Amino acid sequence: MMKTSLVTGATGQDGAYLTRKLLSEGRRVCAMIRRTSTSNMSRLLGLREGTQENGSELRYVTGDLTDSANISRILEEFEPDEVYNLAAQSDVRVSFDVPEYTGEVDGLGTLRILEGIRGAGLASKTRFYQASTSELFGDVKEKPQRESTPFAPRSPYAIAKLYAYWTTVNYREAYGIFACNGILFNHESPLRGENFVTRKITRGATRIRLGLQDKLRMGNIDARRDWGHAEDYVNGMFLMLQQSEPDDYVLATGEQRSARDFLELVFAKLDYEIVWQGSGVDEKGIDRKSGKVLVEIDPVFFRPTEVNYLCGDSTKARTKLGWKPRHTFHSLVEDMLAHDLALAEREKNNN
Ligand code: NAP
Ligand code: GDD
Repeated sequence: MMKTSLVTGATGQDGAYLTRKLLSEGRRVCAMIRRTSTSNMSRLLGLREGTQENGSELRYVTGDLTDSANISRILEEFEPDEVYNLAAQSDVRVSFDVPEYTGEVDGLGTLRILEGIRGAGLASKTRFYQASTSELFGDVKEKPQRESTPFAPRSPYAIAKLYAYWTTVNYREAYGIFACNGILFNHESPLRGENFVTRKITRGATRIRLGLQDKLRMGNIDARRDWGHAEDYVNGMFLMLQQSEPDDYVLATGEQRSARDFLELVFAKLDYEIVWQGSGVDEKGIDRKSGKVLVEIDPVFFRPTEVNYLCGDSTKARTKLGWKPRHTFHSLVEDMLAHDLALAEREKNNN
């Protein structure tokens, strides 16, 4: 029997990689898409509804995590074997502007799905994956962070995700639902949204290289993150739901870099050498050869409360799931740069 997987947030970075992964595993995939006034399907280009070459099947369904009745109807219609809950207002800085909406989607949205599973009589059938996050560790209490590290969230986004994390644990314990939290550290790719720091840098630096943009305006470039490749991380999500017992797992590379390191590396790969001058909001990244300012600090990108340090210990996932990232940090950067250089070239040719 073909297994059915429901993916919320299918149009996002992870959703696009996961949908392809599940189709390659021979699943019937119901990809939940929310209604938007302009198309949000760019990451799913080439994925047509219906039976795929390997016999797997793709269905698009309209859904929104703010609508309980809609979620319940989808669960009742498809009776999925697996739900991967990836939908979220996922921008940490924006969560300070729309805290209530972020709570609705990222916190209560998870509850709506789990209640829907219960209400549809699927508690013993449907396995559930919750897209939890290293942002939960926030003002970190331990270095590196692992499953047992206490949470200390620092944004409306992380607080909403904390509610979702514990709801997932509670529905596992209270109703025996096979529910897992993947506590994922930052993962990036050519499909990453352009406002997140890595993609903002690869997109901006390649546009600068081709004369399409003058400089990059950045926030707190001394924040440190553990950056992996999204393709590896969706493989980990899949593995979590194929185990004999539900559990929570950290996925991380264990390597840490600052946004400043990321800027220097990307510009170096494009043949610039950044020299830093000044400090605080007056600091500038200058190209040694030409003397041009390539990076400026703009406080508009600062957050009211910041997460300065994230670095994960994924020993549990590596041991129990056999999860191992295929990409290195350098192959991630190369992948993003190759994609964004080609994009900038197309943009230049169209001008
Ligand atoms: P993303 O690119 O921002 O994708 C978010 C997805 O959620 C999009 O498909 C979006 O739809 C959808 N969505 C937003 N609001 C919705 C709503 N009200 N109802 C239904 N769908 C809605 O995020 P991502 O990077 O792929 O991350 C996937 C998940 O993992 C998120 O939950 C994120 O918080 C979490 N996470 C991400 C990382 C990371 O580093 N990427 C790390 C840890 C956890 P539109 O396309 O229409 O906007
Ligand atoms: N976005 C952005 N833009 N971030 C900047 C900038 C800038 O111009 N300058 C510095 N930063 C810093 C941020 O302040 C933050 O400390 C760090 O770069 C990373 O920011 P993002 O790339 O926006 O990601 P994030 O870590 O806040 O959140 C992402 O990862 C989480 C997992 O840890 C998102 O994908 C979340 O959804 C995810 O849960």
